[in-house]
Amino acid sequence: MDGIAAAPFDVARIRQDFPILSQPQARGRPLVFLDSGASAQKPRAVIDAMVRCMETAYANVHRGAYRLSELATDAYEAARTATARFINAADAREVVFTKNSTEAMNLVAHSWGRGVMKPGQAVLISELEHHANIVPWQMLRDDNRGIELRVCRVTDAGEIDMDDLEAKLADGKVGLVAIAHMSNVLGTVTPVERIVALAHAQGAKVLLDGSQAAVHRRVDVQAIGCDFYCFTGHKLYGPTGIGVLWARLEHLDRMPPFLGGGDMISAVTFETSEWAPAPAKFEAGTPPIIEAVGLHAAIDYVTAIGMGAIEAHERALVDHAMGALAGVPGLTLMGRAQDRGGVFAFAMDAAHPHDLATLLDRAGIAVRAGRHCAEPLHARFGMENGTTRASFGLYTTKEEVDLLARALAEAREFFK
Ligand code: ALA
Repeated sequence: MDGIAAAPFDVARIRQDFPILSQPQARGRPLVFLDSGASAQKPRAVIDAMVRCMETAYANVHRGAYRLSELATDAYEAARTATARFINAADAREVVFTKNSTEAMNLVAHSWGRGVMKPGQAVLISELEHHANIVPWQMLRDDNRGIELRVCRVTDAGEIDMDDLEAKLADGKVGLVAIAHMSNVLGTVTPVERIVALAHAQGAKVLLDGSQAAVHRRVDVQAIGCDFYCFTGHKLYGPTGIGVLWARLEHLDRMPPFLGGGDMISAVTFETSEWAPAPAKFEAGTPPIIEAVGLHAAIDYVTAIGMGAIEAHERALVDHAMGALAGVPGLTLMGRAQDRGGVFAFAMDAAHPHDLATLLDRAGIAVRAGRHCAEPLHARFGMENGTTRASFGLYTTKEEVDLLARALAEAREFFK
């Protein structure tokens, strides 16, 4: 479907699909929503699919012998199939639904890290990681299992230092490389195929945090060749409360469960329990049923537009933003990667990031301020006070980028 039947990309038309973009705003100005990296807005198709599920086809899944439960189970499993197709997974059983990407990475740290990795092995992350791809590995390291944590440097441009990556893989002790596919601060898109090739050559598996990338680029886990891939529904124009862990079936088969409870077992006595096969083994308890329906609708929505068309629109926006932001006096961009997506973190000489964000809000422009769950990255770039961040979605327009640039220039006049 991607790119074949899709209509030409028409951002004005797409914006009409998002009810919130035409709501009257408290500031009395149209909303300029530039915080999609934190969480994206929802199209009518997602909202309607979730309401329809609750109104017509809702019951618990995998449990009921009645018609409504079968309908809900079908809808839940159809979401898994659609998710597998979206990332070109070889088998829908490789898709595990979690609460979000954070839970997906914790699942791997807990289950692969504690159940499969061996003492003396290391996990290799990078300086550009989100806390969700740092803290679970620190917890694993601090668990006295003899697992080391290594950190690959990023260059001043904000790209993975591939020489450092190679050096840190060279002794063959790295069991897992865990790296973001796209930075939520720098916008850097990392060279995942090269990383996988280097890691696999040294016997290491690769986990990719696709929380940002899966929204902006077409992801093909088989072409990338990675072992684990995570992303989350709410950044992909879907609901909160649902994330995805994709892993090769052979890995899932080796991994012990993360959480215990109903639906993840094949037999239970007071003495012992036996696990259901993946993916059920990793989905203890009632899963996010309505959220899975919403995620399915979101995947259908972006697929109908075409991930290629979305990427092309965002590339044009990125080029436009580079020019527009370069013209703002006193603004320092964090990172200048060659391959980047629509996320811009910046500091202004005259203003604290939070003050800047507050002033932008008065102009109706929603951005994030702080360290964006990436404190070590901000320290690496000497920006311990944090940055202000504008992040784009498929509904972002060049006019909105120009409004941001103009509001930033006015803020500089105000603060200096
Ligand atoms: N991870 C989200 C962000 O970067 C919340 O803003």
